Amino acid sequence: MSDGHWQLEGSAAELYQRYLVPGITIKWADDLVQRAEVRAGEEVLDVACGTGVVVRLAASKAGSGHVIGLDLNPGMLAVARTVASEGAPITWTEGSALDLPFPSARFDVVLCQLGLQFFPDQPKALREMHRVVRPSGRIALSVYSPIERTLGAYAFVRALDEVLGPEASRIKRGEHSFADPSQLDSLLRDAGFGVVDVQTLVQTIQFPSVLDYVRFQLLATPMTVLLKGRAESERQSIIASVAAKAAAFSTVSMLDGGRFTFPQEAYVAVARPFPNAA
Ligand SMILES: C[S@@+](CC[C@H](N)C(=O)[O-])C[C@H]1O[C@@H](n2cnc3c(N)ncnc32)[C@H](O)[C@@H]1O
Repeated sequence: MSDGHWQLEGSAAELYQRYLVPGITIKWADDLVQRAEVRAGEEVLDVACGTGVVVRLAASKAGSGHVIGLDLNPGMLAVARTVASEGAPITWTEGSALDLPFPSARFDVVLCQLGLQFFPDQPKALREMHRVVRPSGRIALSVYSPIERTLGAYAFVRALDEVLGPEASRIKRGEHSFADPSQLDSLLRDAGFGVVDVQTLVQTIQFPSVLDYVRFQLLATPMTVLLKGRAESERQSIIASVAAKAAAFSTVSMLDGGRFTFPQEAYVAVARPFPNAA
């Protein structure tokens, strides 16, 4: 990808699916769907499904069941619809996590990967998930831990602030707004979940180069706003400058072999409405 084959064409959602899903979110999705123990015949909802990485993995387990992917962003859903899947049928739905368009107790499993931190009213979103999951069901969700605990992302935000000014990294830092696992635990209990298990987990992330990582962050996420309205030459120059500084903020082992490798940390929760749920 760093050798000139990287395609700049395509929407941010297409680039997200092509580069960030295989680089980052599929690793977390595999783990989340396993922890949720999705079984054949189950009704599953994935909130903030993006381009559908969790939905497709859940569908591969749900067999004769049904999986719904819900997201606020029609561009992400448009890309989700183009990706092949197997297993249970999938329905893609545009909607808000704060007002789920489903009857109460509709789902065996509700999933939400790396979405909660973006919701303007997190308690409300969790109350909605509690409302739509069956009393015997469970939810599984993940959020990133503080950014200092994921060295690649931390190098990136420091570089961004140096190149574009101190406010530049605000969006990226917002992805890491959970201070500790107890914050997620309390939010889930306050939303009505009787059994809550929050684990601190690490996945190893690897991109072909620091330059690739920086490009994907700036072209395939809400950080595209930082490059908006700038000439192509200026965009490329910003990407190169941020990458050079991010490399300077990285340790030797993160840059081994020219690749960009770092452990990424997240809090992953499985919660059930009642202690006696199956
Ligand atoms: C980092 S992406 C994660 C996508 C997907 N879960 C994954 O792991 O690849 C965050 C997603 O949250 C969605 N989102 C943000 N606020 C939302 C809301 N209030 N309701 C539904 N989706 C929302 C965004 O549109 C985006 O697709």
